[in-house]
Amino acid sequence: MNIIKFTIITSIILSLFSCSNSENNSADKDTKENETIKQEKISEEGIGPYVGVKIEGLDKIDEEMASKGLEIFKLKCSACHKMSGKRYVGPSITNITKARNPNWIMNMLMNPIEMTKKDPIAKSLFRAYNGTQMTSVNMTNDDARAVFEFLRKNDAGK
Ligand code: HEC
Repeated sequence: MNIIKFTIITSIILSLFSCSNSENNSADKDTKENETIKQEKISEEGIGPYVGVKIEGLDKIDEEMASKGLEIFKLKCSACHKMSGKRYVGPSITNITKARNPNWIMNMLMNPIEMTKKDPIAKSLFRAYNGTQMTSVNMTNDDARAVFEFLRKNDAGK
């Protein structure tokens, strides 16, 4: 009799345990999924003045803007980035306009320090470059747009 009672009680306790365990697991899974989605959202456009901005004129290359962008690039970026397709102080940024969202790129130009702290892609670049920080180079929105146009022109092979 005692053994039967014991078995019943044990199996009730066990089933309670397994229930609460599976609840915990699914809560964990939800949190993880939410975090992943959040990270993907941040990665898409990054952090800075260009979140949710619709960039005009992406259907063609604006030559004038691109050559202004080249001048800014020479002054403010070429110390760390070469357009040779090889890494230098910073990564190669050839074909970057094919790899990343336009807003992400311009947020990186305008707001590199916060980006390397909070954006998952920029954070892992920062680690890959052994903590070399892309400096904030004091650009206006027009400057950033012009440099982006220069990068687009370069990536279009023109
Ligand atoms: C002091 C060196 C330095 C300067 C100046 C600099 N960068 Fe960077 N850049 C880096 C480093 C290093 C990284 C990788 C992230 C990090 O560690 O901060 C990077 C990352 C980037 C990325 C992201 C690359 C990728 O793979 O997604 C872009 C785009 C970029 N830089 C463009 C520019 C442009 C355009 C300028 C000029 C306005 C500029 N950088 C100025 C060093 C620099």
